[in-house]
Amino acid sequence: MKRDIRDLLNPALRSIAVYKVDGGQEAEIKLNQNESPFDLPLWLKETILDEFRNESWNRYPDILPFRAMDAYADFLGIARDSVIMSNGSNEMLYTIFLACLGPGKKILIPEPSFSLYEKIALLLQAEVVSVPMHPGLDFDTEAIIAKAREQEVDFIVLSTPNNPTSKSLPYDDVCRIIGESDAIVLVDEAYIEFSREKSVLGLIEEHPNLVVLRTMSKALALAGMRIGFAIANPVLLGEIAKPKIPFSSGRLAEITLLHILKHSYLVTDSVAYILAERDRVYAEIDGIAGIEVFASDTNFLIIRVHDAARTFRDLSASGILVRNVSGYPLMENCLRFNVGMRDENDRLLEKLRTMHT
Ligand SMILES: Cc1ncc(COP(=O)(O)O)c(C=O)c1O
Repeated sequence: MKRDIRDLLNPALRSIAVYKVDGGQEAEIKLNQNESPFDLPLWLKETILDEFRNESWNRYPDILPFRAMDAYADFLGIARDSVIMSNGSNEMLYTIFLACLGPGKKILIPEPSFSLYEKIALLLQAEVVSVPMHPGLDFDTEAIIAKAREQEVDFIVLSTPNNPTSKSLPYDDVCRIIGESDAIVLVDEAYIEFSREKSVLGLIEEHPNLVVLRTMSKALALAGMRIGFAIANPVLLGEIAKPKIPFSSGRLAEITLLHILKHSYLVTDSVAYILAERDRVYAEIDGIAGIEVFASDTNFLIIRVHDAARTFRDLSASGILVRNVSGYPLMENCLRFNVGMRDENDRLLEKLRTMHT
């Protein structure tokens, strides 16, 4: 009698699921993955493709994309040996967690937060210490500090600004958490370009326990290219690099990033547009009776409606795809949508208004 196949697998697979995006990834108005509505201009795509054409496709790229890593370090104004690039920041999360976690290790995760953190931690059989947000979805800094100390956690992950809540930790609070704990602190700054708070990048030299995670999928509008970065002091980064998948960044991603950094006004302009639209949409929704809207520090907004499943369905039926995040703790009947182009946001507003009259 053969053993059940599941008994041969990592036991953690029983408590995690395959990643999926409810509602899919196709829609007339797609607002469900916190992407930028601005694609690269065609002239820039042409320049990038011309360069890509002349690369050797039969040869491996560099083990790590050093050209892009150097350019990004120079762009940030930090030492080149403090930066490492990955195929999206999701890949870097796996790499960092592999380097830091395993059976017997404890990770503190504020809840609700980016779902991948818990998933990878469980896969690695680490113990998850959850710290709930305040009921208004703000971080509970005192509880994070107290729990980290009391539970002697090895690792703390802070998504700030946070997906899915859209709230930031105040800069001083992040400094306190990093300073008052001897755990490794991973600060995921996926949405930092949209935040009122400043980045903690400047602290990496002073704090050898700090890792900052960045993605090019949001403000830099390159979700399709899969580019992420970790930034830390070189000693810690050298350790994180050990489990890293070699050659995981392709040549096209590397070339694309080099060009985007040369035309960074494209990013500045689109961020300004998105922030203006975010504030406009927030104010408009604030005036709709029956919808609660949460102040956002990101490129997306969280609303609470009477019946999230129904609103999700009605919006989908009109071609507007948002994310139903009501399954997260404290987020009952909440929906999440990123800011789109002005006409897309107007269509969403119009639909929400008709549904609430
Ligand atoms: C907080 C946070 N971190 C990381 C990621 C992963 O981004 P990517 O793998 O596209 O770099 C996301 C994507 O939504 C996110 O919300």
